[in-house]
Amino acid sequence: MKKQKILSGMRPTGRLHLGHLVGALNNWIKLQEEFECFFMVADWHALMSEYENPSDIRKNSIEIVKDWVSCGIDPRKSVVFVQSMIPEHLELAMVFGLLTPLGWLERCTTYKEQLREIKGRMLATYGFLGYPVLQTADIALYVADIVPVGVDQLPHLELAREIIRRFNSLYAKDIFKEPKPMLTKVSKLVGLDNRKMSKSYGNFISLSDTAETVKKKVYGMYTDPNRTRADIPGTVEGNPVFIYHDLFNMNKEEVSDLKKRYQQGKVGDVEVKQKLTIAINAFLEPIRQRRLNISDSDAEKIIKDGTERARETAKKTMGKVKKCLHQMM
Ligand code: TRP
Repeated sequence: MKKQKILSGMRPTGRLHLGHLVGALNNWIKLQEEFECFFMVADWHALMSEYENPSDIRKNSIEIVKDWVSCGIDPRKSVVFVQSMIPEHLELAMVFGLLTPLGWLERCTTYKEQLREIKGRMLATYGFLGYPVLQTADIALYVADIVPVGVDQLPHLELAREIIRRFNSLYAKDIFKEPKPMLTKVSKLVGLDNRKMSKSYGNFISLSDTAETVKKKVYGMYTDPNRTRADIPGTVEGNPVFIYHDLFNMNKEEVSDLKKRYQQGKVGDVEVKQKLTIAINAFLEPIRQRRLNISDSDAEKIIKDGTERARETAKKTMGKVKKCLHQMM
């Protein structure tokens, strides 16, 4: 039986952090075994919001590929590529743009939220409004069956399905399939300060943080604010320190012992954080080591090979679209 196809992407806007790892990357790594996977560096999508200041995007594209590979993405199993190196993404986005009603895009909740929340950047542009149209093209070019995403991307997946449905009803039913979203279990990791994890808050641990930085960040983490002394019983549920222990401390006995003593007021924050620091550093160390062995030119080679493989499929699909449209016009 032919493997089902997966496509997902990330915008190269900076180094990855633990949130990306538990929210998406760990899932991608598992999916490689079972599916034909395409993992895309969405640099055009990054440019849509960074167009006034695009100087880091190219470098970040290399860095993100290094992060993926050091975490376990295997470029022999999966196709790792860069969106802007495959012109068919823009061609297909143009075609989808023709048949996407403005109202669908204007009503998109992610669009409205970003316009409201991202300050200091002029995002009321034609291109940014069309963000989900390009995303639809990304998915459709590879005729992906499944798109693993976080909850925040669900509105885009719904739009993708609608756009593809409209294409199918206007032109041809046998080129595209409606893609299904796949949600990850831990779709949102809370920030170190108990707020939403966000680049602008700086409340996360990067994969590239040194052991010393991890220590500093963990010691500054938000815990139960009512526990002003170590002998006051504390709350474990929803407490970031224990959420992180659950995810990154492989010594489950230690975690349940800490939780028990925390709830009884029999452990100090320092011990809880000390053990968390050790756990996170143990978790990150093999990733750091693998990353040291991936040079810029290794990453460039991975991208070049992946892009060649991806382009074959992209060309085939776009060829069908053009043939179909040319016959109709
Ligand atoms: N919009 C996605 C994000 O910000 C990135 C992305 C671009 C993507 N194209 C995609 C994700 C196609 C899945 C499929 O996370």
